[in-house]
Amino acid sequence: VTSVAVVMAMRSEAAPLVASLRLREVADGPEGLPFRWYDGEHHGVLVTVATNGVDSRHGVDNIGTNPAVLNTWLTIEQYRPDVVVTAGTAGGFAARGAVVGDVYLSEGDFVFHDRRIAVPGFTEYGFGRYPSTDVTGLAGRLGAKTGVVSTGNSLDGTEVDLQLMAANNASVKEMEAAAVAWVCWLSDTPVFAVKAVTDLVDGPADTAEEFLQNLTMATGRLAATMVELIALLGESGWPPE
Ligand code: ADE
Repeated sequence: VTSVAVVMAMRSEAAPLVASLRLREVADGPEGLPFRWYDGEHHGVLVTVATNGVDSRHGVDNIGTNPAVLNTWLTIEQYRPDVVVTAGTAGGFAARGAVVGDVYLSEGDFVFHDRRIAVPGFTEYGFGRYPSTDVTGLAGRLGAKTGVVSTGNSLDGTEVDLQLMAANNASVKEMEAAAVAWVCWLSDTPVFAVKAVTDLVDGPADTAEEFLQNLTMATGRLAATMVELIALLGESGWPPE
């Protein structure tokens, strides 16, 4: 593996990784768009961290599926990476063994839990089910868990969302991965996710409070896992063992 693109949404999610790898901001990034790209070399791998930047109208990070699609597409066009990693934070399901601070690698297919379309043929389209590269071997070497990653555009989840996530055996819930995986499927680019748990979807705490409380700790763990993971990818063929 010689080139890895890491697509991330928020500045705070990316900052510890960008600092750990001493990446430099790409001066001639995508023109006229808010995305911020950082690149550099680590263990012989060209690493690009592509963040979504800030929405100038609302003054907050661009998150969710729309910026994820556009940023992923442009990053793949520019770098033609061997693999895309959709990395960031997620809510975990205690019922599936998740604990705040866990780092999960993706398993099986990426699914959407908030695209409910009860028209023949479109129901399955709504769920997406775009495949993740099998990274169970890598997860074992990293001491990370593996599980199904489920994507939607809300921080909370409706009852129906929660039922669908349970039916799909989701271990973590976040807001970009299936959208990134769709672009990777379109462009024949391998993809997997690395997600650090900031909050428990089925726990007692308020999600937003729990997320903000654990963000620094979780993104630190995410960065530590990513640094190790990129080194392993640099030594490895494809698919990784
Ligand atoms: N990112 C972190 N926690 C999340 C949650 N509970 N839902 C969606 N995205 C998240």
